[in-house]
Amino acid sequence: MAYQSITVRPCTANIGAEVDGIDLCKPLGNQQFQELHDAWMAHQVLFFRNQPVTVEQHKALGRKFGDLHIHPGSPPPDGHPEILVVHADGTSKHVSGERWHTDVSCEAEPPMGSILHLWQVPEVGGDTLFASMYAAYDALSERMKTYLEGLTAVHSGEQVYRGRYVARGGDDSHKVYPQAVHPVVRTHPVTGRKTLYVNRNFTSHIVDLPRDEGKAVLELLYQHCEKPDFQTRFKWQPDSIAMWDNRCVQHLAIWDYYPQVRSGYRVTIKGDRPK
Ligand code: SIN
Repeated sequence: MAYQSITVRPCTANIGAEVDGIDLCKPLGNQQFQELHDAWMAHQVLFFRNQPVTVEQHKALGRKFGDLHIHPGSPPPDGHPEILVVHADGTSKHVSGERWHTDVSCEAEPPMGSILHLWQVPEVGGDTLFASMYAAYDALSERMKTYLEGLTAVHSGEQVYRGRYVARGGDDSHKVYPQAVHPVVRTHPVTGRKTLYVNRNFTSHIVDLPRDEGKAVLELLYQHCEKPDFQTRFKWQPDSIAMWDNRCVQHLAIWDYYPQVRSGYRVTIKGDRPK
């Protein structure tokens, strides 16, 4: 694809591209927006360097792609309900994204995309892995694709979020976390490509199979999705931004830098019901 207003350098054959020649602190022009959107759909996750966006600029960038999502559990910073805080330090018991997942897939209409800005990163470590669920689906045997067709799975917020945010003032004793049933293989609404849509974090079981069979199938799919062939790995610097498409990408944040600090904000863009 030829771009006029941005420079796009693919990271791997299957997923990821670094984008230059754009200032995300400024409102996007029509051509830049269109080219960014095209590059995003083509590469599934885009990476940017030296983008010291303010919280308002970050939200404005997200809003170009859709309405912003409010997280069902994580307490936001004051006055910014659409912001998800991503922070780890020497007191942390968890970090966001420690297991392979797509964001908030427990909702009936899970977010289509996420834009993460980190301003403080450890000297080394704290990379994020991204995996293409298009590539994972395409690499399945035709027999397996036929077997998976029409299966649905439960995605549970309860198993991920319960008690997780209490230390940050998020008392959830009266909260009911979302749960949804989604197709195991979904079709991306923009590209029309098929993508595997189960993940270790949220998916609890396959509805249409006996428990043990479903468990074995899920484990097989998770191991398949986690093959390095389908991945790219992003090394953060202060003021890097990554934006990923949750409909076709899983990600994993590596917590190998304890007790160092890694800090930033994520905005998350609303999506539609997986089909
Ligand atoms: C997340 O949004 O899951 C966190 C990703 C990261 O911290 O790299």
